[in-house]
Amino acid sequence: MREQWNSKLGFILAAIGSAVGLGNLWRFPYIAATNGGGAFIFPYLFAILTAGIPILILEYTLGKTYRSGAPGSFARINRKFEALGWFQVLISFLITVYYFAIVVWVICYIGYSFGCQWGDDTTGFLYGNVLELTGGMTEIGGIKTHLLAPFLFVWVVVAIVMYRGINKGIDVACKICLPILLACVVIIVIRGLTLPGAIDGLAYMFTPDWSAIANPDVWVAAYGQVFFSLSIAFAIMISYSSYLPKETDVVNTAFLTACTNHGFEIFAGIGIFSIIGYMAFVQGVGVEDVAAAGIGLAFVVFPTAVSTLPALNSLFGILFFVSLFTAGMTSLISIIQSVITGIQDKWEMTHVKATTVVLVPAFIVSFLFITGAGLYFLDLADFIANNIGIVASGVIEVILIGWFFKPEKLRQAANECSNFSIGKWWTWCLKLVTVVVLGYTTISNLVSYFTEGYEGYPMWVGYIFIAFLIVGAIILTLMKGKEGFYKKPEDAPGYDD
Ligand code: ALA
Repeated sequence: MREQWNSKLGFILAAIGSAVGLGNLWRFPYIAATNGGGAFIFPYLFAILTAGIPILILEYTLGKTYRSGAPGSFARINRKFEALGWFQVLISFLITVYYFAIVVWVICYIGYSFGCQWGDDTTGFLYGNVLELTGGMTEIGGIKTHLLAPFLFVWVVVAIVMYRGINKGIDVACKICLPILLACVVIIVIRGLTLPGAIDGLAYMFTPDWSAIANPDVWVAAYGQVFFSLSIAFAIMISYSSYLPKETDVVNTAFLTACTNHGFEIFAGIGIFSIIGYMAFVQGVGVEDVAAAGIGLAFVVFPTAVSTLPALNSLFGILFFVSLFTAGMTSLISIIQSVITGIQDKWEMTHVKATTVVLVPAFIVSFLFITGAGLYFLDLADFIANNIGIVASGVIEVILIGWFFKPEKLRQAANECSNFSIGKWWTWCLKLVTVVVLGYTTISNLVSYFTEGYEGYPMWVGYIFIAFLIVGAIILTLMKGKEGFYKKPEDAPGYDD
């Protein structure tokens, strides 16, 4: 018997927990600021309305209707679609192993926050003391033993949650983490907004640059942000919704998830950029001179900002890193669950066996990311997963469902239990708007990678990551699964119906 969420609230919190993650806290404010500021809101809203929400509804409907993870749901529509599901699962596996390392650093920084141990040179502290970064990707530099304790701690917590399963593990973890996350971020926002210079930080984030709207790169950035942030096109939402009871209203749940996720990222961005605005004010420099994205924002800029606060510095460091920890954990467990669901469904394994089959290789590979070259691998894996994997997977998903299946049947399935029905706009957003914009995004990202590479990293490493996603998906598809895996539920629309 397939496990089911104990309550709709449990599912909604898990879906929000998955969506709200590191992508919201450290990626969004900077992406918005550098892609037109206030004007970015338009491509961003367009991407949410025409791709984010429609795909979220699609993925919830697929999981709920076909009652399987991504590979199983696609295979039950048409066996030829199964490889897409594995491609998505492998993207999740790749993200798992590096996301892990970031959560490990976050744990370290919760400790370093006591007395702001990063000192004045936060860049040197991160790259020298914490990461002991080597000169390049080919110089591995050995496993950093001082990272082992937090590394094992995160692994133990994750293993406990994953082995306990959907209700006793994930549901409980989200109910503990999300209120803590919200409380920390509310305090950060209130503190940020009451600091001098906050307005400069907000002006940096929101001042509209209308010329940006005509720049295709801005649209590419908006789509990339929405996909990663909503956890769509990498198997997660299909996996989570496959544990839903049949009568769940997926349409309003999708709107709720998307509004909470994006509302939260704008809210958190206000807090973070207010504090960075204050730091720039104290240092007498422009916000644009100190702002950064990704790990630069979290582990270099923000610690500096925390050190410049007038009081309670350690406390604000702890609040920020605890927010990152709680947001990261609820996303990390959703990413791993999508892999577990895929494996468990295909070979009808017990939950414990499937969890072990996924966690053991992930554990081994994740060591790579706590070596002296870990950051380089992380940076490249993140680039390949997001800029190539997720966008390609998204566009293939909408093409297969929109043009080679019957989106209208899925629209009916989505509307069956919904308070308000989605109209034909949904089908056309998927079939046309998303295919065109996402198709452009995918092609332009591929061309840019194959012609220019990324950050000077050896191309062959990137090719290994890409081959892992494609060849791995083909092998997993060709491996024979149990008969039940391919059998769609009676009431689900079939390919030949
Ligand atoms: N949606 C998750 C994040 O934003 C993966 O980090």
